[in-house]
Amino acid sequence: MTTPPPPAHLPTRILFVCLGNICRSPTAEAVMHRLVEEAGLAGEIALASAGTGGWHVGNPPDARATAAAATRGFAMQSLAQQVTAADFGRHDLLIAMDRDNARTLRALAPDPEAAAKVHLLREYDPASAGSPDLDVPDPYYGGADGFDHVLDLVEAACAGLLEALRRDGAVA
Ligand code: 4NP
Repeated sequence: MTTPPPPAHLPTRILFVCLGNICRSPTAEAVMHRLVEEAGLAGEIALASAGTGGWHVGNPPDARATAAAATRGFAMQSLAQQVTAADFGRHDLLIAMDRDNARTLRALAPDPEAAAKVHLLREYDPASAGSPDLDVPDPYYGGADGFDHVLDLVEAACAGLLEALRRDGAVA
């Protein structure tokens, strides 16, 4: 009896995290999903998103975020979920949209090794290197231009994230 060989390496599991999981983190998940598909790396990178708050659990993304994403050809398909301490065991990287989200995640991390999995999305945007403000601003209480701005920031950072994964040897 033969067993199939194990995969060369397991997929890198990434959880994008914002506050409500209906605007920024589903946007990042959708943008990254397309970049990963285009790069032929669908089997190597597993993507999900969650919110630090639970108000919108089970809901689809905000209609304004979905509309803004659709104008650039991104499909939003997630349903909101709230992040828990167990997510640190299920994901290799927990990528926060802003400093508040990152602080909440680090406080939730069960140990320092888990806390080290927390990063800010815009850390991966080479154009933002050295910037004191690496937040993707919360668009929820603003107008449509805020959702467009989120997409600009998220597209640049996700491209950088994919480059970083390649550079680190996490993916081919
Ligand atoms: P998100 O935006 O964190 O980008 O999903 C928000 C969504 C909902 C709320 C705040 C921010 N809220 O207060 O309900």
